[in-house]
Amino acid sequence: MSEDAATQATVPPSPTSGQRAVKAVIPAAGLATRFLPATKAVPKELLPLVDRPVLQYIVEEATQAGLKDVLLITGRGKTAMVDHFDRQPYLEARLREKGDMERLAAVQRPSELANIFTVRQGEPLGLGHAVSYAETHVGGEPFAVLLGDEFVDKDEPLLPAMIELQARTGGIVLAFVEVQPEEVKRYGIASVAPSDEKLGDTEIVRVTGLVEKPAPEDAPSRLAVIGRYVLPPSIFDAIKRTKPGSGGEIQLTDAMAILLKEGTPVHGIVYRGTRYDTGAPLGYLQTVVQLACQHDSLGEEFRGWLRQFVAEMSEVRSP
Ligand code: UTP
Repeated sequence: MSEDAATQATVPPSPTSGQRAVKAVIPAAGLATRFLPATKAVPKELLPLVDRPVLQYIVEEATQAGLKDVLLITGRGKTAMVDHFDRQPYLEARLREKGDMERLAAVQRPSELANIFTVRQGEPLGLGHAVSYAETHVGGEPFAVLLGDEFVDKDEPLLPAMIELQARTGGIVLAFVEVQPEEVKRYGIASVAPSDEKLGDTEIVRVTGLVEKPAPEDAPSRLAVIGRYVLPPSIFDAIKRTKPGSGGEIQLTDAMAILLKEGTPVHGIVYRGTRYDTGAPLGYLQTVVQLACQHDSLGEEFRGWLRQFVAEMSEVRSP
């Protein structure tokens, strides 16, 4: 998205203004190259975070925001993701026989969370391409996109404010975190202007442009795009008009740039809560440790062990 595009952003009344997103789309058909070889046969969305796979946290985030209709965009070798949200009658019967009602409830929970639908992206040709597969399911309504490898703390939700803002503006709503200058080169970075929109204490900005992975000296801000979007249905037509961009992929960012240029309002919410990014080994390990420390039944023992482990490590290091 360019600065020029933004200055033309006169806001036409949106045909979907006032309608709220009720469907979630989770693109999960990527190749997960940053996590190879672990993800050669196991989807990164199914890597365990203490006692649940990553994807369950993401579906829980969607349903907590009232999005009970969830479309998973899957691909080759990823069928197990869908199985996680299915019933397992044999396993359930065995747990019932043993009287292990706690585990039984945990096993049944994913199948009760949401109505899960799936569609297959034949080839992973980019995030925009993946989202285009949601068109038939979503129809002419706004919808939320949740990337399949990151989520936010359940006590500091982000989606409800995004959905509310999108319903008011009818446009695109993004989410940002503020990153350190040396980190901007890993993200899409936004140029922003103050916004007239008000939503309690929520920090809202008007987006005037986006640059992919800039050098620190070229970054227009330190606001980095994270994997939550609430989009109007006009995005589908914009994706059809989007040419392959970086890496030969159809990029969602490029489709959003088309809409921005044509006058669709684009806003961003600055998220100050805790975000977990499990898409690469380091973020995944940090997430496991944080969630293990907070865990109801394991947390206390794990924290004790971790304290001791870190103390021993420091002793080994000091002369
Ligand atoms: P990423 O950029 O994280 O790509 O995609 P990736 O393939 O998952 O992982 P790396 O970068 O190779 O390690 C962001 C999200 O978009 C989905 C991914 O599954 C992930 O949830 N995606 C990406 C698709 O569904 N299809 C695609 O063609 C590309």
